[in-house]
Amino acid sequence: MEIFIDTADVEEIRRANELGIIDGVTTNPSLVAKTGRSFQEVVEEIVQIVDGPISLETVSTDAEGMLKEAHQLAEIHPNVVIKIPMIEEGLKAVRTLTDEGIKTNVTLMFSANQALLAAKAGASYVSPFLGRLDDIGHTGMEIIHEIRTIYDNYGFPTKILAASLRHPIHVKEAAMIGADVATIPYKALMQMVKHSLTDVGLAKFLADWEKVPNKPF
Ligand code: E4P
Repeated sequence: MEIFIDTADVEEIRRANELGIIDGVTTNPSLVAKTGRSFQEVVEEIVQIVDGPISLETVSTDAEGMLKEAHQLAEIHPNVVIKIPMIEEGLKAVRTLTDEGIKTNVTLMFSANQALLAAKAGASYVSPFLGRLDDIGHTGMEIIHEIRTIYDNYGFPTKILAASLRHPIHVKEAAMIGADVATIPYKALMQMVKHSLTDVGLAKFLADWEKVPNKPF
């Protein structure tokens, strides 16, 4: 499973990347706005830190506008993946970008049928938003199951990018089902690293090590 970090905060990206486990980055307009920094500045830094797919989102709602923005974003760096919302105009834009050889990530996805259509349009990634489905009383994880089954039935190469993940259990379940990628917020990623028994065990080992005579280090 590939692990992407879901943030536009370059310090978080830098710290996570130092762990050696980050394959890519996803951003969205809300995450960029949260940084309070200029889009161009943030993106230029991100592409220097992580050598992997970097999803940047278009903000037009018509295919023509999306394509114009997509071409501008694709110019920034070869690793840029164009994030397009799952609407009719978005599908048209995805088909054109796919035919041009530009990678896409179809976002704001909330059903398996939406994922089927995005795969038909040639999307490189689909981003089902699990947490937001949970927020409205659905079981978000179910659509990962459904999309996995549909893509496997027909051999669609589109990657399932589990998104809107809020905690480590989301990541574990998405991995068990077979999502290709999980995009994880920094806080949840750090929660995945930790276990209280690891901390207690390490403290005991270090305390006991002090009792060992003639230590080499
Ligand atoms: C990533 O691609 C999405 O934009 C992000 O995971 C959305 O997460 P949220 O629902 O927590 O805002």
